[in-house]
Amino acid sequence: HGTSRVNDKGHLEIGGVDAVELAKEYGTPLYIYDVALIRQRARAFKEAFEKHGVKAQVAYASKAFSTMAMIQLVEEEGLSLDVVSGGELYTALKAGFPPARIHFHGNNKSRDELAMALEHGVGCIVVDNFYELELLDDLSKQYGVTTFILLRVTPGIEAHTHDYILTGQEDSKFGFDLNNGQADEALEKALASASLHVLGLHCHIGSQIFETTGFVLAAQKIFKKIGSWKEKYKFVPEVVNLGGGFGIRYTSEDDPIPAAMYVEQIIQEVKKQVIEMDITMPEIWIEPGRSLVGDAGTTIYSIGSQKEVPNVRKYVAVDGGMSDNIRPALYEAKYEAVLANRMLDENEEVVAIAGKCCESGDMLIWDLPLPKAEAGDYLAVFCTGAYGYSMANNYNRIPRPAVVFVENGEAQLVVKRETYEDLVRLDVPLKAKVNK
Ligand code: LLP
Repeated sequence: HGTSRVNDKGHLEIGGVDAVELAKEYGTPLYIYDVALIRQRARAFKEAFEKHGVKAQVAYASKAFSTMAMIQLVEEEGLSLDVVSGGELYTALKAGFPPARIHFHGNNKSRDELAMALEHGVGCIVVDNFYELELLDDLSKQYGVTTFILLRVTPGIEAHTHDYILTGQEDSKFGFDLNNGQADEALEKALASASLHVLGLHCHIGSQIFETTGFVLAAQKIFKKIGSWKEKYKFVPEVVNLGGGFGIRYTSEDDPIPAAMYVEQIIQEVKKQVIEMDITMPEIWIEPGRSLVGDAGTTIYSIGSQKEVPNVRKYVAVDGGMSDNIRPALYEAKYEAVLANRMLDENEEVVAIAGKCCESGDMLIWDLPLPKAEAGDYLAVFCTGAYGYSMANNYNRIPRPAVVFVENGEAQLVVKRETYEDLVRLDVPLKAKVNK
């Protein structure tokens, strides 16, 4: 997919660059991003709205993969940006992203984080709860600014995905409940504040969703509420943000629909609702993360040890694992992989790919057909672009991998590999004992 192909050496090539050469140059594990594919995904979302003449903002959910180079790419493509912490906001600002196109999310933003957002003129704060509403009102007064907000609501919808990445259901830590008066109370309070300007509503029903039904249902519930708010408060939203969560294909078991089709369904439903509620069409905002970067990322590992459990399976170990991709351990996520240096070798056996962390659950793939691998071969695991590097960690004091962008036959290092020195950089040794 994307610009990936097999070159005449029988190697995996991405963006016109030999992945095996990259592994040799930058070491492994190594994340490689197909920049052309990210651009293509970004444009598909934008064009889907433009085609229908609908005013929209496509905000990249940077939690999926936040680095300065990625943020610069997002800016180049003219998207907006969703950040969820001071750290993501800092990264965005450092990358020179225009603050006006940043949306700030999170269920427990601190006073310092909110102050940072106001100081830099962040375009929109997505308010999650009453505590934050008061804090933000207070801070906005202190700074003498009008703060543009969306109210995050929980529509009470169960999308079909892994429990840990469900967010739209009633029993969720996120947002004002749409059904029990919380959302109404939040709007009343926000409208009463002279420092807050309510742009509209936000909801996000979950992640890695394949059906459009959830989005359509969410839109219906939200617009029903909007209808009642029009009567009750004479309030009509300028913006409705339906979040992210558009699913991608990790393995042949996944069957996602193209991004444009989600957008079409959303637009259709919103247009219907707008007529029903007799209001002007709001801007539609969405926040794709995974679907912009997920399948653009590939991780290259070096193969090391192997262990045969007779009549059960063969374990083939790589030089990374849950430290650079925690998704299999956390969500039982599935991946496909190939031997990057022997793409045309057909002498396959089914093996299990183990990581190198001291934990039995550190398995990347359980049943992978692979040519007979030897130490020094390169394994390429596909679709690791979202929530791979961004959830990478230093368990077992394993340094985090480097990240390389490839496009049109050129490679650029965008994140350096961590060093052992980096790992102890923040450690403070015990004071030397004074001998009495
Ligand atoms: N907007 C909001 C408010 C979100 O909470 C999220 C994801 C997104 C947008 C982007 O969702 P996406 O388009 O990437 O599905 N670590 C998990 C995914 C957690 C998603 C959290 N929120 C994983 O690796 O599957």
